[in-house]
Amino acid sequence: MNAINQLSDAAMALPNDIQGFTLEPSSHSPRLLDLTFPREVVEAFLAAVADYPVQALEYKSMLRYRVAKILDDLCGNTLQPMLINTLVDRATGGLQVTPEGLDDVAQAEEMVKFATAVAHLMGRSNYDAMSGEYYARFVVKNVDESDSYLRQPHRVMELHNDGTFVEQDTDYVLMMKIDEQNMEGGNSLLLHLDDWDELERFYGHPMARREMRWSAPPSKKVVKDIYHAVFDVDREGRPIMAYIDQFVQPKNFEEGNWLTDLSDSLESSPAILSVPNPVGSFLLINNHFWLHGRDRFTPHPDLRRELMRQRGYFTYAKTLRNPRQK
Ligand SMILES: [Fe+2]
Repeated sequence: MNAINQLSDAAMALPNDIQGFTLEPSSHSPRLLDLTFPREVVEAFLAAVADYPVQALEYKSMLRYRVAKILDDLCGNTLQPMLINTLVDRATGGLQVTPEGLDDVAQAEEMVKFATAVAHLMGRSNYDAMSGEYYARFVVKNVDESDSYLRQPHRVMELHNDGTFVEQDTDYVLMMKIDEQNMEGGNSLLLHLDDWDELERFYGHPMARREMRWSAPPSKKVVKDIYHAVFDVDREGRPIMAYIDQFVQPKNFEEGNWLTDLSDSLESSPAILSVPNPVGSFLLINNHFWLHGRDRFTPHPDLRRELMRQRGYFTYAKTLRNPRQK
């Protein structure tokens, strides 16, 4: 029996058998699933999409779905239902995806294509204001002059949800490693809400449902503030979160101290997973019940890391009660 048959609350019919990939619980946690594509499937995919450069995917949104179909066809159409179900399955909701043989920065374009195909089988990646595209590639170096912790290597980036200061739904987050040189440390940090032992303490507090203001620094290119509470409930009434320490703007002493207690509790949770993400692989998580962050790196003058991210909304099964995109 493979992991696909063990998923609970299937949102759509699952195939009896899977083709073109393997799926098994990660060694880091049974909540995280390792999705691996063998080299021959990756090569067949790249050959089939050779006529679609990334620029074509940028200019013509519809082609993102065509590359998705090409990958699903190579998997006997068993990939799409697995992805749709896993991303909304509260028991898991997270994948580490490894396309074998796609592991060198020289293949960066191919990496973007592969990640685009996977994302567009269950969702649509939102416009990313930082890059002006549906994805963003960015570099982390030893020295940084940015205005948030995104590109600062020598400190922990605290656990958070993405999309807290934008108006679009951010149902999923995809984080891919494109390059890594002279790197030590810097693992991805992940925390599933149901593994956080103090969830009830914070979710049960009146402040959990108080509307707060969220605003971003200039590099994010999002000028309008938005208002929402830290906690909400999903379609089944289970807690979900939309929280980031850097961009919440508490209006008074009470809010500021409750948020600081929340942050301290998250950061000290023993349930945080520390997951290395090798070049070419990516994490794909439900952004409503998984928090993510990044561990610190060991300084090195020639440190270089390049990442690619996509954030978007689910086009099939949903987590939110009232999604903006139906
Ligand atoms: Fe993030």
